[in-house]
Amino acid sequence: MKQVVAVTINGEAHELAVEPYRSLLDMLRNEAGLTGTKKGCDVGDCGACTVLLNGRPVNSCLVLALEVNGGDVVTIEGIQSGPDRLHPLQENMMKFGGSQCGFCSPGIIVMAKALLDENPNPTEDEIRFALAGNICRCTGYTKIIEAVAATAKQLSSGKEITP
Ligand code: FES
Ligand code: FES
Repeated sequence: MKQVVAVTINGEAHELAVEPYRSLLDMLRNEAGLTGTKKGCDVGDCGACTVLLNGRPVNSCLVLALEVNGGDVVTIEGIQSGPDRLHPLQENMMKFGGSQCGFCSPGIIVMAKALLDENPNPTEDEIRFALAGNICRCTGYTKIIEAVAATAKQLSSGKEITP
């Protein structure tokens, strides 16, 4: 039998009815209609499903939907800087070639945002460590790391960084 989960998603209050065995990932994609968060492995191995739960990054495939009752979730759809304005991480992923097929990109951007929120000036090693759980089959990672490093510089200097 479905149960109601009251949760704030990207700043909006929702009441979503879900079966008790469903994951947060499935609730976001199927009940909330937010398909930006991707389902890769569904077992916590790839990071494609990363969202912020109460400000912390989680693999949403490993969290039961019922566990987020009363919580606050931010997905890739809530990351952008304004209605018509991408977050600098999103812009730089495009500019630096950090996204090819794009399947991993939502999880990587959300994880990178969590890193920069906590550590605005990470070293390359810190960026690599933070993204260690996010698998990309296309880019070879270098361009992703460059995009995150450029975003950190851009946010701290206020100046756009070009590749
Ligand atoms: Fe959740 Fe892969 S889909 S970690
Ligand atoms: Fe294709 Fe990362 S861009 S999996």
